[in-house]
Amino acid sequence: MQERNIARTAIRPRTLKKTVCALPSFARDRFGLGSGNRKLYELGMSEPKVPAVREDQHGDSTGSSDRLHVRTFVTGEFATNCFIFWKVPDAVCVVDPGAEPESMLTFLKKRNITVAAYLLTHGHMDHIGALASMASVAPAPCFIHEEDSTWTFTSPNSWEPFYPEPVRPTVPVLPIPPGNKISKGGMQITVLHTPGHTGGSVCYVVADSMICFSGDTLFAGSVGRTDLPGGDPVRMRQSLASLCKLENNLRVYPGHGPVTSIGREKIENPYLAGL
Ligand SMILES: [Fe+2]
Repeated sequence: MQERNIARTAIRPRTLKKTVCALPSFARDRFGLGSGNRKLYELGMSEPKVPAVREDQHGDSTGSSDRLHVRTFVTGEFATNCFIFWKVPDAVCVVDPGAEPESMLTFLKKRNITVAAYLLTHGHMDHIGALASMASVAPAPCFIHEEDSTWTFTSPNSWEPFYPEPVRPTVPVLPIPPGNKISKGGMQITVLHTPGHTGGSVCYVVADSMICFSGDTLFAGSVGRTDLPGGDPVRMRQSLASLCKLENNLRVYPGHGPVTSIGREKIENPYLAGL
């Protein structure tokens, strides 16, 4: 029963009210516009409210004066969270540039910021749709797990009418390095392989700043669906169990919806019950 619930959990597109009636049933199923959301409402949860742009700062547990900045951009039809984070503005990381590259590029230009790396939590089109256009203006290597890189930049990953066929960026597309560590801009980023939503789903953890970018593995009050190609409810349970072992005050920036923490999700998220 628990596994079936995970498979049905879905995100709620920003334009659901406008589009749900116009979409045929197969599209509602594919994009998770149907029963999964009703399930959330049955559980007493409301549609996440996230400002279109926000910026947070996090102290460093090492006592360094460097603060880690996280800028959130909510983009595209599925209200995907795209993040730009940095300690030093000449080497920022971009997580999941999903859509609307203009707003992120304008932000980079205004602050005279240089991109050091693009970090993809997984390959779904709503998380990579703006990568090629952003990287053509602000080139930097792109990291994605090998289990997802095989299909990410192929036509089956297009989600018409919302996202056309993905364009492969001209910058290097790299696998997660051995040791699962990425070092950029004075930040040590640990990559956790958390399959389930897709085979190559990962979470990026900046441990000394106590933040985690969880992609579509863990949301506030919910988890990513596992019924799309590459999804696996058993692997998802294992991944969620591994996330439960992280520190309670680790702040979680999900791929959709508001910021949360591991401790809060362990208490409030029904999909973590018993893990
Ligand atoms: Fe996804």
